[in-house]
Amino acid sequence: MEKWTSAELMQLEDKHGAHNYHPLPVVLSRGEGVYVWDVEGNRYYDFLSAYSAVNQGHCHPRIIGALTEQAQTLTLTSRAFYNDSLGVYEKYITEYFGFDKVLPMNTGAEAVETAIKLCRKWAYERKGIHENDAKIIVCEGNFHGRTTTIISFSNDPDANKNFGPFTPGFIRIPYNDLNALEQALQTENVAGFLVEPIQGEAGVFVPNDGFLSGAAELCNKYNALFIADEVQTGIARTGSLLAVCGNCSCESRCERQASFIKPDILILGKALSGGVYPVSAVLADDEVMMVIKPGQHGSTFGGNPIAAKVAMAALDVVENEQLMLNARVLGELFRSEMQRIIDKSDLIVKVRGKGLLNAIIVNDTPDSKTAWNLCVKLKENGLLAKPTHGNIIRFAPPLVMTEEQLMECIAIIEKTIVEFQ
Ligand SMILES: Cc1ncc(COP(=O)(O)O)c(C=O)c1O
Repeated sequence: MEKWTSAELMQLEDKHGAHNYHPLPVVLSRGEGVYVWDVEGNRYYDFLSAYSAVNQGHCHPRIIGALTEQAQTLTLTSRAFYNDSLGVYEKYITEYFGFDKVLPMNTGAEAVETAIKLCRKWAYERKGIHENDAKIIVCEGNFHGRTTTIISFSNDPDANKNFGPFTPGFIRIPYNDLNALEQALQTENVAGFLVEPIQGEAGVFVPNDGFLSGAAELCNKYNALFIADEVQTGIARTGSLLAVCGNCSCESRCERQASFIKPDILILGKALSGGVYPVSAVLADDEVMMVIKPGQHGSTFGGNPIAAKVAMAALDVVENEQLMLNARVLGELFRSEMQRIIDKSDLIVKVRGKGLLNAIIVNDTPDSKTAWNLCVKLKENGLLAKPTHGNIIRFAPPLVMTEEQLMECIAIIEKTIVEFQ
């Protein structure tokens, strides 16, 4: 194969690819654990983890082993026939998360779409809402993906400007506001409440303690489904198996403590495959899931044998390597170290987050270039991160990081901030 330089590869993307992303100027060609390397061989700490998909670290041997073994055996059957991996995976994942059933899909957005369809169908067939009248409550600042229906209820103009007309049937309320939720739940024909337990894309907004449990209780009171989109927050990222677990203290395996809030519908993606393959899932109990009958929903690739094997390996790694505990312990350390740096710096005003999903707020206007320029400098010093919404930088390294590596990363961040001022 021809050997390209980073500059040439960036030019190729610029010339031949749609301009729907604005990547940091770094071209990666290899990854292992917490590290990635560019085409010229420079090594970086990955502090984005493909938007929390690579929780288990790049190219985890156990997950890659499952992928390659299955890829040489049977890749795709479609759901027209049974295959010998899907049922085993379905048993595994439903027991792992404590639900009766799973509906397998591929991307996060597809799983959100699935949850919306499921919620609406449940509302018509179980709750007795008149057909086409169901409403789903969502939050301001939400990010649930990029399909036409999902962007219909976004309030980010970048996401929806000039993409209409939009899908009706959504009510938007402020995030982290139980009064607004209760008021909205009293609207006629409400079928469910779709929420990110921590708003990732919006800038890592962690709701108050009690918001998620309160929301689940209110949904129960008004007979609406509590739908948790854990595509970004799930699978150990925030220091517990799921962000709806609250302040858990489980170590390797989920012990279902009192703080666990069981959503009526749980949406997973990203790290469900360790970033190796597109695998997403919607989990629910029979009362909800069984409203969907053969032919009413599906996906050619959803539930394929590779996805099934990869997801089981990815979930095994989370348990065997105690990634929840590691994310929890390193997350505390990261935030306290960031706070120490912030106390000495005018450039950063705040750190917030949970587990290893964190963000720092740069002391500048959201439309300034400061956060971007800081990320460019971080890259030059060997750490990759990306601004989200202007002046916010998200920090989400793979959860397999060691304390020693994290301290090295903190030193890089501190040095960069000092140099930048
Ligand atoms: C909370 C949440 N839901 C859904 C999605 C969409 O996932 P995908 O990009 O795999 O479609 C994302 C992606 O960032 C997300 O953060």
